[in-house]
This record gives sequence, structure tokens and C-alpha cells, in this order.
Amino acid sequence: MAVDLLLGLQWGDEGKGKIVDVLTNNYNIIARFQGGPNAGHTLVFNGRKHVLHTIPSGIFHDEATNLVGNGVVIDPVIFKGELDKLAEQNVDYKNSLLISRKAHIILPTHRLLDAASEASKGKAKIGSTLKGIGPTYMDKTGRNGIRVGDLELANWKERYRTLADKHESMIAYYDVEIEYDLKELETEFFKAVEVLKSLKFIDSEEYIYQAQKSGKTILAEGAQGSLLDIDFGTYPFVTSSNTTAAGACTGLGVAPNQIGDVFGIFKAYTTRVGSGPFPTELFDEDGETMARVGNEFGATTGRPRRCGWLDLVALKYACQVNGVTQLMMMKGDVLSGFKTLKVCTSYKYKGNVIEHLPYNIEPENVEPIYSEFSGWNEDLTAMSETSQLPQALNHYIEFLEKELEIPITIVSVGPDRKQTIFRN
Ligand code: GDP
Ligand code: IMO
Ligand code: MG
Repeated sequence: MAVDLLLGLQWGDEGKGKIVDVLTNNYNIIARFQGGPNAGHTLVFNGRKHVLHTIPSGIFHDEATNLVGNGVVIDPVIFKGELDKLAEQNVDYKNSLLISRKAHIILPTHRLLDAASEASKGKAKIGSTLKGIGPTYMDKTGRNGIRVGDLELANWKERYRTLADKHESMIAYYDVEIEYDLKELETEFFKAVEVLKSLKFIDSEEYIYQAQKSGKTILAEGAQGSLLDIDFGTYPFVTSSNTTAAGACTGLGVAPNQIGDVFGIFKAYTTRVGSGPFPTELFDEDGETMARVGNEFGATTGRPRRCGWLDLVALKYACQVNGVTQLMMMKGDVLSGFKTLKVCTSYKYKGNVIEHLPYNIEPENVEPIYSEFSGWNEDLTAMSETSQLPQALNHYIEFLEKELEIPITIVSVGPDRKQTIFRN
């Protein structure tokens, strides 16, 4: 069986967690392929909200196996916190949660390095979640990292010490005020590592290969969004992994010709948390309404998310680099009540009108050009069928499908599992 992918097409927080949870009914295995606890994936069902950071969003389904792939970076302390919450809810994860031996470990000093690097950048800071993501991927590509499989080696603590000592000298190099008690952080870290070691570590590329061969269905879950991709995002205001479809191949060991459907998720408008350019960002009442109605606060850091109109230029780009085969539009309900909706269909760039995402999209280089659409007033949140959707929303959806040349197969009308409308 081919491996299907689900990934975000904007700057993250599109609603990946919700849809992975909904789609888990159709899959045997859910596999996270990149990122780490910078992610916050929200699931809502039976009147409860759950936020996952590293653990795949299929974990609440008893029949599914959940795999943390080699492309992921794991902070044992945050991971333990997630496990504790699952245990409180009687989720039996011991047998259903598998971890790739090749996934890298976030050390306490990686988090400190992240903080030091950001502090040293001042106003130019990335707006990192400060979870140590950048420094951990730097150690991975620098060939210094510690992997999950290393925790099974007798000498791993020596390797830990050497790396942590090096990190401490690097922190000093930044010459910024970072207060920390490494002893305390390490006590917590080593305790969490023991918990991590009680889980099943596997050679995940082999596991996936065999699962595919035996006809198991696999959904790969992305984190962040395409515009945060280390290569194709708004560099340097990006994360440190490939969030796009190719990242699923390297992050799980799946060959490109084994990829099936690519589900691309986007909000009916746009949000971004952290620094970096955002051409359609709103600084007016419309933006405030989106933030308020959409409850736009980061699931990991609680920071307010910046809001703006849908950017079709950027969305088209994301569809192209990912090879999206089906689209899922989230949070349409948040736009109810807007008299007029705008969609950016091209940019004014250096005196020309362009329809592709250029190298520079800072405000001094790019001015969005909008098409306008009539809004709708109906409350969508109790709707469950396509036939109930207002005409103006159907028009909005059909316009996007025509422009993107990809069908929108799911329209989400609220955070709950049940608030999901399937379109043919
Ligand atoms: P992820 O990182 O892509 O999984 O998304 P987040 O969980 O960070 O952010 C999405 C937020 O929107 C969460 O609070 C979800 O509960 C919520 N959400 C998801 N889909 C919808 C929807 O269709 N309508 C509304 N109003 N909220 C939604
Ligand atoms: P999910 O999976 C939204 C953003 C940060 C910052 C930049 C770099 O929930 O969609 P990092 O900590 O990776 O070094 O931060 O990326 N960022 C996210 N924004 N959703 C996420 O994940 C994000 N993960 C990282 O805000 O701008
Ligand atoms: Mg999120």
C-alpha cells in the first residue's frame, strides 16, 4: 500500500491534528515525520480538548499504531509530559506507540542554546518556540547528535556529557543573560529518558517497509507548515526541518514512488505565529475578528497568532512543492459574519504583477492584490452536510478549487471531530 501524507500548507496550525484524528479510522499506522515539540496539534472530541506535541494524532484510536519517525526530534521531558496526560485518560500507549531509533534527542542544553541564539538576535529573532529545535537539527546535520538508539548503548552518558559541555561553552560565547540550573534540568532529563526507554524503539524504515508489504495503510503526519520549510519557507523565519512532502520520505524512509495521496490542509484565512513576512497580514478590525473568533493563540506557546486574508499565491506554491492531491479547508466557520472576504490572487512585485511566490516577500517588495467575495452570515458549526453550506461559501470553495486545480474534499466547521464535512 502507498503511504498517504497529511501536511500544512501555510505557516502551521492549520488543523493537522484534528484531521489526522478524523482520518485515523481509515489507517492502521499514523507516523510523524519531522519537527518536534515546537508543534502543538489540537484534537477535540467528547467535549475534551487534547494537545499533542510529539506523539502522533492517531493515539486516541485503540486500533491504530502510532510511530515517531526518524525525522522527528524528541525532548524526553516534554514527551514524558505527554505520556502522563495520556495515562490520566487511560490511553494504553505501551504497545501502540513506537519510536524510531534514528530520531534525535533534544538535550536541555539545546533548549538553552535556542534561547541564547534568539536573545543574541534581538529584534531579528526568529520567534522560535524555544524548544531547542534549531540547535538539535544543527547537531544532527553536524553529525554530533544523540539518537534514540544511542540510549541503549553503555557509554551514552559520556557522549551526553561531552556534547552538553560543548553546548555550555557555546552558550557562553553568545554573551547574553541566560539563567539556568543545569543540574536541575539534567535530573529531570535523565528521569524522563528512563521513561522514554520503557517504550518500544524500532528500526522504523524496516517496520514501515514490512507494513506496506503486508498491505497495512499508513498516514504520515506533518508538523509546522510548508511556508516554515527550511528550504522552501520564508527563510530565515522558518523551522529547521523539511515540512514539505519530501520530508516524509527522509523522515520515515519511504521511497518517493511509494507516496500515495498528499492531503494539504489550509485555513480559510491565514495565520502566522513568530516573526517573518506575511503579505496578507491584517492590522485592522477584520484581523482582530479572525483572531478572536478563531481563538488564534499558539497551542504550544500561547502566543497570539497574526491573522490575515487567504494568500492564494502562497497556497499555490505550497500545493506545487508538495504535489497535493486533495485539499482540506479549515475554520470556514470563523469567517461567518464578514460582509466581504478577500483573497490575494497576485502580488505587485517590483512594478510587475506576478502570480508566483518570489524570493523576497517582505512588505517593501510585495503588495498583495485581492479579489473580493461576498461573505455569509450563517453559523456553520452545526452543519454536517455539503447541502447545508451557504451559497456564498460554496462560491468561495469553488473559486479556490478552480484556481488550485485540486478538489477540496473536507470542509471543517469547528474544532470537534464531528464538525467535519466530507465533499465528493
Ligand atoms: P495544528 O498544529 O495544525 O494541528 O493546528 P492547531 O491545533 O495548532 O491549531 C488549530 C486550532 O483550530 C485548534 O485550536 C483547533 O481546535 C482549532 N480548529 C481546527 N479546525 C477548526 C475549525 O474548522 N473551526 C474552528 N473554529 N476551529 C478549528
Ligand atoms: P504546528 O505543527 C506554527 C514557528 C515558530 C517560529 C518558527 C521557528 O503546531 O503547526 P522553531 O521553534 O521551530 O525554531 O520556530 O516556526 N513554528 C510554528 N508555528 N505552528 C507550528 O507547529 C510551529 N512550529 C514552529 O513560531 O516562527
Ligand atoms: Mg499547532
